Amino acid sequence: MVIRALAKTLFLFISIHFILGCSEIKNTSKGNISLVDSLALIPYPQHLEIYNASFLLDESIIVSAHPKLKGAFKLLQNELEKSWNKKISIKTLESNELSPENNIQLLFDASLDKEEYNLNIGEQGIQLSASFPVGAFWGVQSLKQLMVSNYTEENNSYTLPCLSIQDKPAFEHRGMLLDVCRHFFDKEVVKKYIDLLAFYKMNTLHWHLTEDQGWRIEIKKYPKLTEIGAWRTDTSGNKYGGFYTQDDIREIVQYAEARHITVIPEIELPGHAQAALAAYPQYSCIEKGIEVVNDWGVFKEIYCAGNDSTFLFLENILTEVMELFPSEYIHIGGDEAPKFRWEHCAKCQKRIEEEGLHDEHELQSYFITRIEKFLNQNGRKLIGWDEILEGGLSPNATVQSWRGMDNGIEAAHQNHQVIMSPTSHCYFDYDLKAIDLEKVYQFNPIPEGLDADKVHLIKGGECNLWTEHIPNEANLDRKTFPRMLAMSEVLWTYPEKRSFEPFLERVRHQYNYLKNEGVKYGLEGEAVRLKSNNKDGQIYVELKPGVPGLDLKYAYVSDTFIKYEEPIVINKTASLKVQAYRNNTTYGDVFEQSFVHHNALGLKPIYLSSYNKWYTAGGEYGLTDGFKGSIDFRDGHWQGFWGEDMDVIIDLKKPSTLQNIQAGFYQYNNAWIFFPEVVEVFSSIDSLVWESIGTTMLHTAPEKRGKFTETVQFDIQENSKAARYIRFKAKNVGTVPSWHEAAGSDAWIFVDEISIETDDL
Ligand code: ACM
Ligand code: ZN
Repeated sequence: MVIRALAKTLFLFISIHFILGCSEIKNTSKGNISLVDSLALIPYPQHLEIYNASFLLDESIIVSAHPKLKGAFKLLQNELEKSWNKKISIKTLESNELSPENNIQLLFDASLDKEEYNLNIGEQGIQLSASFPVGAFWGVQSLKQLMVSNYTEENNSYTLPCLSIQDKPAFEHRGMLLDVCRHFFDKEVVKKYIDLLAFYKMNTLHWHLTEDQGWRIEIKKYPKLTEIGAWRTDTSGNKYGGFYTQDDIREIVQYAEARHITVIPEIELPGHAQAALAAYPQYSCIEKGIEVVNDWGVFKEIYCAGNDSTFLFLENILTEVMELFPSEYIHIGGDEAPKFRWEHCAKCQKRIEEEGLHDEHELQSYFITRIEKFLNQNGRKLIGWDEILEGGLSPNATVQSWRGMDNGIEAAHQNHQVIMSPTSHCYFDYDLKAIDLEKVYQFNPIPEGLDADKVHLIKGGECNLWTEHIPNEANLDRKTFPRMLAMSEVLWTYPEKRSFEPFLERVRHQYNYLKNEGVKYGLEGEAVRLKSNNKDGQIYVELKPGVPGLDLKYAYVSDTFIKYEEPIVINKTASLKVQAYRNNTTYGDVFEQSFVHHNALGLKPIYLSSYNKWYTAGGEYGLTDGFKGSIDFRDGHWQGFWGEDMDVIIDLKKPSTLQNIQAGFYQYNNAWIFFPEVVEVFSSIDSLVWESIGTTMLHTAPEKRGKFTETVQFDIQENSKAARYIRFKAKNVGTVPSWHEAAGSDAWIFVDEISIETDDL
């Protein structure tokens, strides 16, 4: 103890001595863009001081390291050797003796936490101290980030600012989920992402390896899992798929280990298992006729919980998985398992009876608990999505909260560990309208309202890259970057040290590096945001740059783009096009929004049924704001009615001669959104006596797969009568039909605008 304290005092003395002569020029200043921010460090260190001096790192360097920490420099050493075309030897430091000749020294400091490091750059050299290889490795990543942004090509050297960093992470679990099932990514892409995770001090790759649409990991005992389960037939009749051999997996796990990234495999059960059941249907409830899915959604073929051989099958698989992955945790999914098959399966019902279970939710809990026991017996711990709370949480499970954070709070209240990845901030498959860089940066894995004594149970967070709509590497890059940089800083840097504008500045210093690493990064946010104001029945649309520093030009009615200066009056049925520019270069594609001009614009509808809080189209004026919805049902212009009819009255404020009434609807049955069964419109002069104007049906059948919009139209110019009130009723199909994989769930109606033309238009 005394020796350790003495060594530390000596070390501190020498550190200060080392940087003597450098005067401090800038402390970190929250909220201001300073020189510190141009250092391009992401995530931002806990403590940073920068001095008015520099150190030249070139091929003459001498490196020494404590034997425990030597490995932390290995990868950077390889890169420098390649770049300088010479061997760098690393001397072993027997103790923490410092020598000015050793320009880079990796020192052991037992007082530091596992992932903690200190980095001092003085005029004579660099000292990095840590007590574990992982801490030293994060320190090397900081050094590497400083090198990348301070490179001089002429003499192939780095002019580093003198500085002092003390740093450690806010959260111990800093992850990214990569779904390689909906679309397959080969091992080189996985390695590229492991490199990028390490560079930004993320420490976990959550590898989603099994799904309805593909089984991606070779299991020797069950070869059909990959012979059959790894392949689906796509819509053009071609085979699509792929898988990793056990050698591939070992290679990737080793590659990750060398970068201090833990790979946590996810083997989904009891749901999202259709590819496995296509290969081995005997472990399903229906035992036959199952194919690998070639569509997106939630599917009802799940593992049979009444069949003991299902558990043996899964245990054999997990045994091979545990041999391949040394991770303490194994993710078993547990999300989105429809109970339809279990409800109709004699074996599953028998199990419920024999085990004294209440219902199918408790059967799911039985399933997960049985698997957890097996993992625990083998020295591993279980992580599952927050559905594993339903029917009772298995005893030692860690919960990954994705449907908001409330389930994470509940799990913590039950004294379980939690990983936060709510859809609101962490689903990077969502577009920038829903989750832009700033939104990710606002994420706090510690939810408000969590009791202080439960905060320690929040282990960290993850960004999730689900790949239904990410078919290739370029798309993956665009969705992941730069948003992953925000996630990295959220999970590493304590909230009181975070500030968006300086962060954005540092992000922009990363683009060169990302480009050189072959990353086709995307935008920081939507190029433009539209806000509509309703004034005296006129709709004014205001344009705002989605990220700081953009100029906007727009075209409305005409094809000519002009500089945006003031809100635009919507006075024609036409589309508005906007192009953003940064430094006179286009930023993003042309944004397009369709508007419809009509006589009910800006009138507040009277709702006889209620729209759902998740899909409001902007609220109570959402159906009369002129905005048409696009083919993206999350674009903010669709209003959703869940499990009930849509029934709305519009008061035109005066008797008017009707010409035309229209409304736009949406269908995407994978997301349980159906066109109405029938639409009927009524008119009234006094809101007491109503007269039907007509009924109509939509053309697209409910079974038809895909995304569709349709407009219903009532053309009533002939024999039109004066009316003041229009009532618009659309009949919901009610529940999702029996042929559908989510049969019995409440169905949605989505509508974007009710447009009414009178002879005043
Ligand atoms: C999930 O997004 N189904 C976990
Ligand atoms: Zn069954």
